[in-house]
Amino acid sequence: SPSRINIAIDGPAGAGKSTVARLVASTLHYIYIDTGAMYRTLTMKALEAGLTAEDAEQVTRLAERLDITLLPGPEGQRVLADGEDVTSHIRSLDVNRNVSHFAKIEGVRSRMAALQRLMAQQKGVVMDGRDIGTHVLPDAELKIFLTASPRVRAERRFQELGENPGVTLEELERDIAERDRLDEEREIAPLSRAPDARLVDSDGRTAQEVADEIVQWGQQIARTISPEEK
Ligand code: CDP
Ligand code: CDP
Repeated sequence: SPSRINIAIDGPAGAGKSTVARLVASTLHYIYIDTGAMYRTLTMKALEAGLTAEDAEQVTRLAERLDITLLPGPEGQRVLADGEDVTSHIRSLDVNRNVSHFAKIEGVRSRMAALQRLMAQQKGVVMDGRDIGTHVLPDAELKIFLTASPRVRAERRFQELGENPGVTLEELERDIAERDRLDEEREIAPLSRAPDARLVDSDGRTAQEVADEIVQWGQQIARTISPEEK
């Protein structure tokens, strides 16, 4: 059987990373790891504890003792925080608007990166986020930087909200742009394309088309890896 590789998928909000990463992982029988869910879980817990991103030391301690478990399930990944299912809570507007501030904290980032590297140790992982190709898994055999225009990304997110979105498309576009700005401008492990990442623009393409292309690249790379490196 071919060697297993690690695949890193980074990009801005709404580019389709998690949808595409899930499809790629299921086709290759790899494990999908949503690193954004980890930052979201930490943010939810910090907000519950009444902390702000200014409380860097306390938030770091919270991150260090928080048990985050990602479980694959039939209806998508479930997220447990200290054993409690928080899958839907971490997608709240409150978390959306705060997560990029908590994600700037050095102690939080080093803790999350350490956990993520452990999860990727055995290979056969598709990991999506902002800093996977640049910082978490710089040796990943395949790196993708997935983008789409800001309007398309906001429209995709808006569609997901259904009948009662609770925000306008314009508000959503502004929130996404602000989060991208914070993620790109932060000091530690900002959102950026690794020099060796393949740039994929998903405007006007389905998630399945994008995933098929990535699967093909992955299979090609896995075939070229010699058995000695396994
Ligand atoms: O799914 P969406 O694109 O809305 O965001 P996400 O992937 O769930 O990530 C939420 C936030 O977590 C991002 O906006 C970043 O601030 C942070 N994040 C990060 O800093 N590093 C990662 N590897 C993943 C997420
Ligand atoms: O993880 P990220 O924030 O990058 O995006 P996502 O959570 O996967 O959301 C992207 C949304 O756009 C989902 O509703 C997808 O069904 C849809 N979509 C996509 O992911 N890729 C395309 N090429 C087209 C649509």
